[in-house]
Amino acid sequence: MDFKRSVGKIIKDQEKLSFDYIPEKLPNREEQIQNLFALFRGVTSSNISQNVFIQGSVGTGKTATAKRFCIDFSEWAKDEGKKIDYVFVNCRRRKKNSSVMWKVVNHFDKGFPDRGFSTEEMLEVAKGKVEEQNLHLILVLDEVDFLIRKDGSDLIYYLSRFDEERLKPKGNISLLLISQKNAFQLLEESARSSFKRSNRVRFPRYTCEDLFPIINDRVDIALHPGSMDDEKVQLICDIAGKKGDGGGDARYGIELLEKSSLMAEMKGRNEVITEDIRAAKAEVSPHITESKLKALNTQEKMILLAATRALKKSTYTTTGDIKELYKIVCEEHGITKLAHTQFWSYLQNLSDQGILNTKTFADGSGRTTKVSLSDITAEKLENKLDTLI
Ligand SMILES: Nc1ncnc2c1ncn2[C@@H]1O[C@H](COP(=O)(O)OP(=O)(O)OP(=O)(O)O)[C@@H](O)[C@H]1O
Ligand SMILES: [Mg+2]
Repeated sequence: MDFKRSVGKIIKDQEKLSFDYIPEKLPNREEQIQNLFALFRGVTSSNISQNVFIQGSVGTGKTATAKRFCIDFSEWAKDEGKKIDYVFVNCRRRKKNSSVMWKVVNHFDKGFPDRGFSTEEMLEVAKGKVEEQNLHLILVLDEVDFLIRKDGSDLIYYLSRFDEERLKPKGNISLLLISQKNAFQLLEESARSSFKRSNRVRFPRYTCEDLFPIINDRVDIALHPGSMDDEKVQLICDIAGKKGDGGGDARYGIELLEKSSLMAEMKGRNEVITEDIRAAKAEVSPHITESKLKALNTQEKMILLAATRALKKSTYTTTGDIKELYKIVCEEHGITKLAHTQFWSYLQNLSDQGILNTKTFADGSGRTTKVSLSDITAEKLENKLDTLI
């Protein structure tokens, strides 16, 4: 067997296609970056805090742009003689106040114990560190709606008034809240008062034209020269930028790029042809992307696996049926099963992310929730999950 035949003929650097990679340049997000700069520059010149929202639908570059902004802004501030530091928290992974605060204190003290301290105590520790190091901290709460839904907006309230009790507030912490929905509306009244409604930077969906330089840049840095021509790039952009549900998503475009390149490599070719892109489109779902599945926690994967098993045999299933199969799946994988409310909230997360469709309606015995899957075959999803678990 000649394993070398198909290896690396097209993909030069796969890491550049991963969703953790932060591009140097973000085409068609210059305006958003300038807006963020305009909002945050006062942090360096007049010692004020800033609380800002980023809002936009899936794959519109919110996370990548916020990360790029934090890196570039702290560099810029350094030249201006001001110390800016930032902490990036993904609230889908850290939904609880204590878990968010732990990430913040851990940024300053890598050995900070992960239990034994309350959220309030950790807030004090963070305050101490920020003052001691005389810096301004930008705390980015990505997918903040998960945190607000789980633990309310108390933490955001405290953080946005970090040094209010001082006589001369120094303004040493700013918040950048990212979400697909309008996070301002999700905040409770008290927390809202420390936010300006206008401090919102919107990220519109990408059009096919917007996507072209984005995908083209990735082709340049991730693929060997000559492995994909402009016409194929255009086809990927046309698919990913198509208007309608799930359209305008750069992540979908990048996954199509990766998948079609891999498929062409597997066929032993050194160039991606149209058929590879068509085949990749059939494999990659715009809603149930690989990166989304990878980001699920173990319990979510277990619940989804249970749902796919139920949905292999029927169009609709119920939460009750999923729960029964979930118990079996947990046993098979040696995982402790969740209590009902937690199970329900994880299932809700899967629905919020558009992976499962849920529909609740009243019937004779109360309320029933029907669950279905429309974007991928249950079998394909089960196979994908099996490789991830
Ligand atoms: N303007 C851009 N230039 C280059 N790459 C981009 C751009 N916008 C998005 N991307 C890439 O597309 C992918 C999705 O972007 P990102 O994760 O920032 O989306 P998001 O808006 O945070 O989506 P979600 O709401 O699902 O979290 C990432 O790999 C990112 O690097
Ligand atoms: Mg994101």
